[in-house]
Amino acid sequence: MKKFFYLMIISGLQGILVSCGGANAKSSNQNTVYPKEVDSIDLKVNALLARMTLEEKIGQMNQYNGFWDVTGPVPSEGDAAHKYEHLKKGLVGSMLNVKGVKEVREVQKIAVEETRLGIPLIIGFDVIHGYKTISPIPLAEAASWDLEAIKLSAQVAAEEAAASGINWTFAPMVDISRDARWGRVMEGAGEDPYLATLIAVARVQGFQGDDLSLANTIAACAKHFVGYGFAEAGKDYNTVDVGTLTLYNVLLPPFKAAKEAGVRTFMNAFNELNGIPATGSTFLQRDILKGEWGFDGFMVTDWGSINEMIAHRYAENRRQAAEFAINAGADMDMESYAFVNELASLVKDGCVDESLIDDAVKRILRVKYELGLFDDPYKYLNETVEKEVIGSKRIQDAVLDMAKKSIVLLKNENNILPLKKNGQKIALIGALANDKTSPLGSWRIAADDETAISVLEGMQAYTGNTLIYEKGADVVTGETLFPKELTLNISDKSGFSAAVTAAENADVVVMVLGEHGLNSGEGRSRSEIGLTGVQQELLETVYKANKNIVLVLNNGRPLTIEWADEHIPAIVEGWHLGTQSGHAIAQVLYGDYNPSGKLPMTFPKNVGQVPIYYNHKSTGRPLDPGQGEVFWSHYTDVSNAPLYPFGYGLSYTSFGYSDLKVEVVSNDKVTVSVKLTNTGDVKGKEVAQLYLRDEFASVTRPVRELKGFELVELNPKESKIITFTLSHAELGFYDNNGKYIVEPGTFSVFVGGSSDATLTSKFELK
Ligand code: BGC
Repeated sequence: MKKFFYLMIISGLQGILVSCGGANAKSSNQNTVYPKEVDSIDLKVNALLARMTLEEKIGQMNQYNGFWDVTGPVPSEGDAAHKYEHLKKGLVGSMLNVKGVKEVREVQKIAVEETRLGIPLIIGFDVIHGYKTISPIPLAEAASWDLEAIKLSAQVAAEEAAASGINWTFAPMVDISRDARWGRVMEGAGEDPYLATLIAVARVQGFQGDDLSLANTIAACAKHFVGYGFAEAGKDYNTVDVGTLTLYNVLLPPFKAAKEAGVRTFMNAFNELNGIPATGSTFLQRDILKGEWGFDGFMVTDWGSINEMIAHRYAENRRQAAEFAINAGADMDMESYAFVNELASLVKDGCVDESLIDDAVKRILRVKYELGLFDDPYKYLNETVEKEVIGSKRIQDAVLDMAKKSIVLLKNENNILPLKKNGQKIALIGALANDKTSPLGSWRIAADDETAISVLEGMQAYTGNTLIYEKGADVVTGETLFPKELTLNISDKSGFSAAVTAAENADVVVMVLGEHGLNSGEGRSRSEIGLTGVQQELLETVYKANKNIVLVLNNGRPLTIEWADEHIPAIVEGWHLGTQSGHAIAQVLYGDYNPSGKLPMTFPKNVGQVPIYYNHKSTGRPLDPGQGEVFWSHYTDVSNAPLYPFGYGLSYTSFGYSDLKVEVVSNDKVTVSVKLTNTGDVKGKEVAQLYLRDEFASVTRPVRELKGFELVELNPKESKIITFTLSHAELGFYDNNGKYIVEPGTFSVFVGGSSDATLTSKFELK
């Protein structure tokens, strides 16, 4: 009873008891409503709004999943019929998962030509890493640290999707995560807020371009607001409980940057944050996003997340969930059927202020105007363009380029890589080496199965060597998860002996192992994060036959590969690289492309170290050898060090850092310069990284934080002076009130090719 209060409303002749949410049904304050009229779009939006009935307004806030074979017969019963009726009555503002010019035109035509006001639909789709032509998973792209390439990747994805009738992508996912067990780490930019922030901006710019009204740009969506990547124990949809410092310094920055880059939509999240489901959080949606940050686009809910507030045991029923969601600042309901069924009566009963509906609808209409949908609702619907653009050479080239840039060389003892191009016998082993679907990764709903270039095909393009392929063993696929995996014989070792024979007869063995593309992603959390099935055993068995192994990993998350790191001479992180995967990997293996990727997420030694991340805090119990070995912050069975730190990655050449100079120009400007030299024999690229440590502060600060990087290409023996500038944005932090401050004191800088860089200097800020 303390949570809710009840209103008695007299309706007609009957007195009825109506419940309105209480404590958290805060209505918006002045600065959270849509900014006042400033341009002609606002005038148009207002004019249209004035003509809309309450039901029509609520219809704009309703988004349905594609619900029938739109080019087939009209459904007469079931859910689909109901949705179809709503579409015809103008009670649907958006649809998702309708794709292809023909299908989109069918639904758009109903909205535009058959409803009273003819308001066009906005068509959404998860264009996460490519559309039909698939680019590397976002975590892999982040490993490139190449913002221009990442922007281009988003741009070509937008172009391909737009050519298929899509107006809006539910990307980028900008959730930070420190837990490799979480399946959706594949969809983000890793663990670091600085890198993730720059990547968020690049992706938003890539999708949206400079002019949203062009037919080859689409609206982007920063998701999932907020905390979704901090699910307890890495279990998808699980509880999130984070303190203010982590919220403001780690989780919010990429979202804020996306807003500042002009992202037109946000998506809220399935998770609760500190006791309030994100979908019902006024603090997040109204106070921070629409209030403090002044966001003027719209907030879509995550799939069914209004209803999930009931499962969270926060709302008692759908009506109350709808009330909480709208009052908290959600503008569009994805698949909860809550707004369309409940909002009108909530308004009539005085539980929801109609001004909040008006505000939500204005935001949605504004984005539709910006996309140019009112000028021409069919502008994205051109079969000739669709045919020309989808899968075009230009797009294939862009995803191949991105794939090569995403590869990280983790180990290369005795220069076993690059492979020689002639006269070698190579054994290629592993189910993933011959898989044309797995490289497409997890979010590839518009792509066709079997359309990726496999590693086998990529290597077959190099004809100077003898190549023998053996599967060895199967991998666990996402489609065969528990309990179905019990019926799949993933423990089958019958392929081992052929693999061993191939290895025995080879000069070099290339093994492609890891996890299937559908074994990471949404709902694909894992409690063990090693090679799946019997692949580890396969690796160890083949190793006994031939130690000259190049291990190519295919995976959507950091894996625990400590044994491989100890024994296998060369390890290449090949992620899930998309349509051109096999070509990219082969070009790196053969040295036609010198890898320069750096890990965007720490690789743990074992799963017990997780969450493990480089920008952690100090403790009161660091190792003090003088005090003995037991009572300090550590494990007794594994060291505190990761297997591979954040920012780590090798090249076929080597780099040296020297001449570190720090100059405090003013209290708001510190310059750090360093000399970077290519000390090896081939041309290569290096990501020079700058880390900062605020030694003492009013709240404890991380041991180091990335505050600058530069991707530099150098010829052998060539040097370059790199200069980083630190100013207000890099020197400060958010305090426990969410206020950004810069404090005087001593700072340390570390510069090098990974987060464990040792070249260091100090400066004082007065
Ligand atoms: C995911 C979102 C996605 C939506 C629509 C949800 O399950 O969490 O990220 O955009 O589905 O497909």
